[in-house]
Amino acid sequence: MNIGGQHLDNELIAQLITDIRQKKELRSLSREFVQEQLLLFLEREPKMLHFLLQNPSSRAERYKQIVKELRKRLRRAYGLFRWDEELHKRQQLVEELVMKKPQNWKKLVGQVLATHASTQERLSFFEHLYRQIFAITGKPKRIIDLGCGLHPYAIPFMKLKTLEYFAYDLSEEELQTLEQFFAFLHTKNPQFQGHAAILDLFHWQKLKHLKNADVCFLFKMTDVLDRGKGHKVTEAVLREVSARFVVVSFPTKTMSGKRMNYPKRKWMELLCNRLGYPFTVLQFPDEVFYVIEKKMVS
Ligand SMILES: C[S@@+](CC[C@H](N)C(=O)[O-])C[C@H]1O[C@@H](n2cnc3c(N)ncnc32)[C@H](O)[C@@H]1O
Repeated sequence: MNIGGQHLDNELIAQLITDIRQKKELRSLSREFVQEQLLLFLEREPKMLHFLLQNPSSRAERYKQIVKELRKRLRRAYGLFRWDEELHKRQQLVEELVMKKPQNWKKLVGQVLATHASTQERLSFFEHLYRQIFAITGKPKRIIDLGCGLHPYAIPFMKLKTLEYFAYDLSEEELQTLEQFFAFLHTKNPQFQGHAAILDLFHWQKLKHLKNADVCFLFKMTDVLDRGKGHKVTEAVLREVSARFVVVSFPTKTMSGKRMNYPKRKWMELLCNRLGYPFTVLQFPDEVFYVIEKKMVS
């Protein structure tokens, strides 16, 4: 394979990918995705590439450094939702839903959402949030959820009768569990249809092939997409996705629980102004939501 004008042996790439994926929280990432991130990294870090080519041994200091750095980046961008224990718990809860169809099924859904801090936080305001969003957008009939994580488990809180929901993320296992949940929701309400599929948002060009939607959710994704390097990917996603409204959210607390100094994102507002998209800001305890109206791509 050629990177930055240098030849990199396929076996070496394969070995690096295997080593990076040794950590259990990174195991559900596809080799293809890890490879892409690895090549991107080596392209941007020619010195690292140079050292690697000089000494490709997995015992070499630089080799280990590359593995460590990639794991760090993947964890930061992706790993948060991928802890095996969490996933296992979700799988058990969804299985219980599907097999037993209990009377109090919404309680179980709450437990699924509580398996991760980010969705747990929203439990206290989900209904209020959707009421406010849909007061602006109207009741959507088709929703796209990009980098969905656990968010689709909150569908029952949306209180929408006729709904087609398209959820996209990266982990096959998570999406399989989600599909089971969607099938369960369909048994409860035949006017609900859910679809879960893999979509890597760094390939945002693919967004234009999706069906037109009324609303697209892009919750807590901009840091993941932009990775501290401007806001080009967020902008591309916002432009390309065929939805009348895009709802973008940001945490207003840091991961250690401190309140952020700038809970609103000025750049988001400047970007919307530049694109000519009007927006409304909705403030919730630990998260701020921008409901952005864009012109429908036909
Ligand atoms: C911070 S979480 C947000 C999850 C969800 N939107 C929410 O707010 O509840 C980030 C999500 O983005 C997904 N993700 C990371 N990189 C991605 C990419 N390149 N394409 C699509 N999804 C990605 C992760 O798997 C994870 O589920």
